[in-house]
Amino acid sequence: MSEPVRAADGPFAVEVEQGKTYYWCACGRSATQPFCDGSHKVTEFRPVKYEAHESGRVYFCGCKGTHHQPLCDGTHKKG
Ligand code: FES
Ligand code: FES
Repeated sequence: MSEPVRAADGPFAVEVEQGKTYYWCACGRSATQPFCDGSHKVTEFRPVKYEAHESGRVYFCGCKGTHHQPLCDGTHKKG
């Protein structure tokens, strides 16, 4: 498994809307971080679906190293 691109050194704070579905970029190549823009097609990565069960602020992983995709779990602090 190849490594994802580290898109950012920290999470992206996003106001999500209840009932909406989001596709988090797992490969790190998307130009519309933290979401997928189709750039993964040349990689083995696929986006990760996130369904918002309530409206509010969500921290999507930007470093792409989280163990709790698609959300930040603090792994970015470990470099
Ligand atoms: Fe990264 Fe789609 S562009 S997963
Ligand atoms: Fe990836 Fe925090 S930004 S774990």
